[in-house]
Amino acid sequence: MKKIVSFFAAALLGISVIISIPVFTSAETTNSEYSYTIQDLRNLQDFLIVRPTEENLVGKPYDLNADGVWNVFDFCLMKRAILNRQKDTSDILVAYFSQTGNTEKIANHIIDITNADSYVIEAATPYTDEDIQYTNASCRANQEQNDKSARPEISEPIESIEAYDTIFLGYPIWWGEEPRIIDTFLESYDFSDKTVIPFCTSGSSGIGTSERNIGNLVTIGNQLGGRRFSANSNLETVDEWIKSLPLSEKKEETKLKIEVNGYTMTATLADNPSAQALAELINDEPMVLNLNEYGNFEKVGALPQSLPKDEERITTKSGDIMLYQGNQMTIFYGSNTWSYTRLGKIDNVTQSELKEIFGDGNVTVTLSLSEGL
Ligand SMILES: Cc1cc2nc3c(=O)[nH]c(=O)nc-3n(C[C@H](O)[C@H](O)[C@H](O)COP(=O)(O)O)c2cc1C
Repeated sequence: MKKIVSFFAAALLGISVIISIPVFTSAETTNSEYSYTIQDLRNLQDFLIVRPTEENLVGKPYDLNADGVWNVFDFCLMKRAILNRQKDTSDILVAYFSQTGNTEKIANHIIDITNADSYVIEAATPYTDEDIQYTNASCRANQEQNDKSARPEISEPIESIEAYDTIFLGYPIWWGEEPRIIDTFLESYDFSDKTVIPFCTSGSSGIGTSERNIGNLVTIGNQLGGRRFSANSNLETVDEWIKSLPLSEKKEETKLKIEVNGYTMTATLADNPSAQALAELINDEPMVLNLNEYGNFEKVGALPQSLPKDEERITTKSGDIMLYQGNQMTIFYGSNTWSYTRLGKIDNVTQSELKEIFGDGNVTVTLSLSEGL
């Protein structure tokens, strides 16, 4: 997914340079509370390449840098917002069984939204069309559902279920219940320290009986209330459901927040006494710095007080934040080789984005912490 997103961004930047995309002035500007989804990214991409969009875009908050137009820079900022949100969720697994593709569609929405890993539960002896022809009383699916002890064998085990603490478990409803292969799956692993969230698709039946069956069959650390979806539920519906779940938030790492020219970026602080001292300095109130353009590769300016330094000769990269001579901060959008102490690195911003954000001249930068120390 991240590769696809990066590809879109690169392609759009390329197109915008070559043919200068017509821009769009939107009535709606920005919305810092809005949680952008992959669907939003697709919408904006379609808009920018002048392709019909799947959704009506009126009122969408796609002017992320609040410059009055929707353009490729909004696309890049949206991409970063989504990637930042996705970063903390890789301990989630979406395990699902889907015979005709309906449950798979919902599973893919969950994967898109949470950046979860996926595992497809497949029968060692695959189901044929005749096997699931439920109007035939003796088809394989019906025989299995009529036998509570049936445990169809699964073809490949999960490589490492220990890596996950939250598991979305998806399946179609078969005769009001979970298919027996879901029972095989549940009995194959230890879920006693996991959060399990069932979801299903069906013609019309609810998820209730299958949820109870699952809870009664094995010990589950924390089983959350599941949800039945119709086959054509869209990404937005699934997103709303996921946002409503009481999933435990991971403790956020303390980040340096950098506001400049109407943009907000985050940076990961270096693991050293200099970065720690900077964090302590801005813990209570934000620090405003005037940074001067220098050398076509950096913005540099005086700090209100010196920080501990431990210099080494470094060839900087775009996004590096350095302490210079113990009392100045330098943010690089290009490269230079000199003696510096590392303070941090800006997250997920390309060199061309950074150049655009900082502009040509001197800048005023506000530094704060994303979380208290
Ligand atoms: C054997 C069998 C039994 C089914 N039983 C029910 C049922 O009891 N209630 C219902 O609403 N749909 C039932 N369905 C329809 C499926 O739940 C529905 O088509 C589902 O979305 C299929 O998901 P999938 O494409 O992921 O396999 C049944 C389908 C099959 C094959």
